[in-house]
Amino acid sequence: MAKEFPLVPNEVKPISTKFRRLSGSIPNPQTIEQIENLRKAESLSMRGQPPVIWDRAEGVNVYDAYGNMWLDFSSGVLVTNAGHGCKRIADAIISQASKPLLTTYCFPNQPRVELVQKLVSLAPEPLNKAFVLSTGAESTECALKLMRTHGRKIRGDNKTVIVSFENSFHGRTFGAQQMGRLGGGHAWIKNLDPEIVQVPFPDGFRCEDTSLNLFEKALARLGVEPGNVAGAISETYQGAGPNFMPKQYAQDLRSWCDDNDALLCFDEVQAGFGRCGRMWGFELYDVVPDLFCIGKGVTSSLPLSGVIGTEQVMDLYGPNAMTSTHSGNPICCAAALASIEVIEREGLVANAARVGKVLQKHLQQIKSEFPDVIGFAPGEGLVGGLLMVKKGTKEPDYELAWNVVDLCFHKGLLMFAPVGLGGGCVKIAPPLCISAEAVTEGCEVIREALKETA
Ligand SMILES: Cc1ncc(COP(=O)(O)O)c(C=O)c1O
Repeated sequence: MAKEFPLVPNEVKPISTKFRRLSGSIPNPQTIEQIENLRKAESLSMRGQPPVIWDRAEGVNVYDAYGNMWLDFSSGVLVTNAGHGCKRIADAIISQASKPLLTTYCFPNQPRVELVQKLVSLAPEPLNKAFVLSTGAESTECALKLMRTHGRKIRGDNKTVIVSFENSFHGRTFGAQQMGRLGGGHAWIKNLDPEIVQVPFPDGFRCEDTSLNLFEKALARLGVEPGNVAGAISETYQGAGPNFMPKQYAQDLRSWCDDNDALLCFDEVQAGFGRCGRMWGFELYDVVPDLFCIGKGVTSSLPLSGVIGTEQVMDLYGPNAMTSTHSGNPICCAAALASIEVIEREGLVANAARVGKVLQKHLQQIKSEFPDVIGFAPGEGLVGGLLMVKKGTKEPDYELAWNVVDLCFHKGLLMFAPVGLGGGCVKIAPPLCISAEAVTEGCEVIREALKETA
């Protein structure tokens, strides 16, 4: 089981910079009391993050109610692409709520009319239809259903195999956890669907063979006939790294799917809306999928997700056969429209590319300073990771990653906890409005933490 951060007051060295402000004990007695109250009433599973009660968050900073300010390298698990507490988004939410129009089920509402048009205008040809939902897991479940339905439609009952990748994550619901088995998250499912299979992910670090051969060999080993594959789904980058596939592999996978009438789906829930220095992460591969999933950064705030794909795929279900109560909630759609507007107007995709270069350079430097314990430092744009390893091996050092995150937290740099199994990664994903100066300061904090703990 992943660790929980202890509720022990820790007297910190006072810090006061442009981006971080910390003093006294962290967590302080009031925070400890409130988190204890929370823990009494809430499931254990919610205890995984460093002990700060977020009071407000703005731009690249998160504040508690006691004057402490963290520089945020988490974007609240890669949600706040447009920045925390973005005024334009808050205003759009308030204005929509005060109309008032709080919900419409699947009756049309004006923000949904505008949002789906905006989404398809941002997607590459021929992806010209969108369907909005609420959570990332819902969007990957929907992609699974669409891929399988498509396979059966074109080739009958045998074309139902879904190929996903080892160590991937697509959410925590039944189908999503059968596709994404990171950390054994699927262990609660007794009768795993034998037609959802995993192949190794060509990360170039733990899996050195990065040719499509690997994919084909794995299918053969699993006894899967290529013609029976309905679709292949991959996170655009695997979140636990972030691990990217080589461009050539992605292109070969695209061709393989075309040759075998299988659909290709990228899960862009993390990678989309500028995170990788492109509007869509899959642009890095020069490949267009048949469908892709969105979530997180689409609103930089409220829950909204979706699937965008070709008409042929997105129109497989007739009226009222593919809906959800909160599909296209007007306030969430208004938030998404505002977030996309901010990302576009403020040039945040270009900022992610530009400042991302600074981040990636720092990560490579840090890796070269700690070569025994940092095995790999992948990244693109404003997402990166330091993969901690047991000295001189490729085995993840979860403990070390956890200690680095904990130490950084007490130095005013916020990151979310490394995931358990398959983890060992200090993940860096600041809001896309961050400056090079703030990135540099945050990386210096990581360096300090590594010096103290590695
Ligand atoms: C790539 C990816 N897909 C799907 C999900 C699931 O999203 P949600 O937590 O909104 O269900 C996540 C969440 O971390 C993710 O990173």
